[in-house]
Amino acid sequence: MMKITLFALAALAVVCALPQDTAQAQPPVQIVKQDSVVDVDGYNFEFETSDGTSRQEQGEYKNTTDQQGLSVKGSYKYTAPDGQQISVTFVADKNGYQPTENKDAPAQ
Ligand SMILES: *[C@@H]1O[C@H](CO)[C@@H](O)[C@H](O)[C@H]1NC(C)=O
Repeated sequence: MMKITLFALAALAVVCALPQDTAQAQPPVQIVKQDSVVDVDGYNFEFETSDGTSRQEQGEYKNTTDQQGLSVKGSYKYTAPDGQQISVTFVADKNGYQPTENKDAPAQ
């Protein structure tokens, strides 16, 4: 009987010592928009989530004397862990990946 009581008290102590982080619990992030088209000469897709993250991209297959291969344009936005809004637009083609950070992206 003594052993059972000690075990119950120990279990209670462990449960009480667990972090009480229910107040910090955030609602799960949901997809609020999602689209894509895939074709022989290209593709595009976009999505947006309820935490303000979004991403979109279009790729076009080129077969010209100037370029043979994919030419891609896109952008993405998200909030960094420090609260900063990050917004990047990029081109990826025969000249490689060329990102441009949009410094004065409006806060949402
Ligand atoms: C690209 O263009 C060349 C020249 O017109 C052609 O021979 C080749 O088959 C094309 N390649 C593709 C994957 O369409």
